[in-house]
Amino acid sequence: MAIDIQWLKRVIERRKKEADEAGARLHPPAMVNEVLEFLRVRELKKGVFVDMTVGTGGHTLAILQANPKVEVIGIDRDSNSLEVAAERLADYADRVTLIYGDMRDVKRLLQQVGVDRVDGCLIDPGPSLWQMDSKRGFSFLDDSPLDMRMDQSAQVTAQTLLQTLSADELERLFVQVGERRSDARRIAQAIVKERSRSGGIPTAKALAELIMQVKGVRGGRIHPATKVFLALRMTVNEEIDALKGGIMEGVKVLKRGGRLVVLSYQSLEDKTVKETFAILAQQPDEGENRPLLRILTKDPILPSFQERQQNPRARSCKLRAAERIR
Ligand SMILES: C[S@@+](CC[C@H](N)C(=O)[O-])C[C@H]1O[C@@H](n2cnc3c(N)ncnc32)[C@H](O)[C@@H]1O
Repeated sequence: MAIDIQWLKRVIERRKKEADEAGARLHPPAMVNEVLEFLRVRELKKGVFVDMTVGTGGHTLAILQANPKVEVIGIDRDSNSLEVAAERLADYADRVTLIYGDMRDVKRLLQQVGVDRVDGCLIDPGPSLWQMDSKRGFSFLDDSPLDMRMDQSAQVTAQTLLQTLSADELERLFVQVGERRSDARRIAQAIVKERSRSGGIPTAKALAELIMQVKGVRGGRIHPATKVFLALRMTVNEEIDALKGGIMEGVKVLKRGGRLVVLSYQSLEDKTVKETFAILAQQPDEGENRPLLRILTKDPILPSFQERQQNPRARSCKLRAAERIR
């Protein structure tokens, strides 16, 4: 399909304006000290790190400030976030390069800027607070369309899924993230019924309300629509595939002795990190007698009590790290 670039530019401009008007907040980076420690940022005489999910630049800023001798290459698939990061990191422009792209393409993206191997890779997946605030339908109270794309040039939105998937397919998606089967079925059926009655579910808020009607509003810490929103978001952004691919490709661009640090915020993500690390730490490639990775964190590292108090978004964070050994 041909894309009208002028139209796309206008859409991106409008979204950015909406985010600015909505007062989108900068994402508070999680577990910064632990990230710096595992990447050994302060110890290096010089070095290059790649922040494979740079977002609005919180971790990158911390790396640049921690050691004046290191450079960072920041990748993100959200061009609007990159613009915010560029503004925020302007004082370090001589040591930071920002690239639009998918972390699964890290090797090619680094080659574009003449870099072959790096000292460390950081992956901090999922949407940033800035994206959550950006009127893309990520939040339950959001009165905007169900978009949920991190990359605003991607084809499939959450709305596309709700309009085109069958009740069975929707149910399967919701079950995959841990929704109870009976609830998943009733929600999927209600969505299909609503789209034939009114043509579709117009906003994130309308979807959250529909789910609350189906499940009944129960008191509790977790919003009844949490898992359905998570399922849609993860499908739209191919999050698990991207995370796995990001780790596999990230390891390839590490120097020997280079470190990979991955954060995760929910169980499917942590499971993916654990399993992907295990594959790389166990199976030597053909013709090799040593695995590529040594795992540095047998169990995931959790945020400190103090950080959990200060940054509620970091409460569910887990950090795993590994080192390339050949
Ligand atoms: C949690 S935020 C990162 C926040 C950042 N560490 C900070 O401190 O500001 C995750 C970012 O990763 C980006 N992202 C998610 N999946 C990606 C992928 N496959 N490739 C590149 N960027 C991705 C999102 O667009 C988002 O900006």
